[in-house]
Amino acid sequence: MNWLKSLSIVLGIAALSMVVAAFYWRQHGDVATGRLLAQNNCGVCHDLTANKANERGPYLWGIVGRPAGSAVGFHYSDAFIQRTQASDIHWTEANLERLLDDPGHFMPNIAMTQRKSQHALAFEGIALRDNRRDLIAFLKTLH
Ligand code: HEC
Repeated sequence: MNWLKSLSIVLGIAALSMVVAAFYWRQHGDVATGRLLAQNNCGVCHDLTANKANERGPYLWGIVGRPAGSAVGFHYSDAFIQRTQASDIHWTEANLERLLDDPGHFMPNIAMTQRKSQHALAFEGIALRDNRRDLIAFLKTLH
């Protein structure tokens, strides 16, 4: 085996392990990026801390795995209650992905997506799959 051949094998292995590492990282999401995304996209309506304060939206502490509609003391909208009564929803990673991808489709007419006169803001979803994955990786740390 000449040196060129062994060099290309070494480089090949290095490239392959980088692809595997990148794939693993994308599968699991990046918590630091997710934290920034959450502060910018959710923090305006949701408390992300262990204070468990209800703001315009319910607190998100412990959200992953929590049954939908279970924030203590939060007054959920009729649309939200109807949706959770129609089918028992837990905030699994898969359901969070559905909510963040297309909130109006997964939970039609909930207060999170409504633009009210006193609240100019409404949540319209997170367009990029990688961003949603990073967000959920961060939400998993809130416990
Ligand atoms: C414009 C304000 C607003 C923004 C921005 C917003 N939300 Fe919400 N969210 C709400 C409101 C209000 C509710 C309660 C919905 C209802 O009662 O109809 C809610 C409900 C939720 C629920 C259900 C909680 C439960 O107790 O079952 C989750 C999960 C959620 N939001 C996650 C997020 C995440 C993650 C983001 C950021 C990517 C986000 N929200 C951005 C206002 C917002």
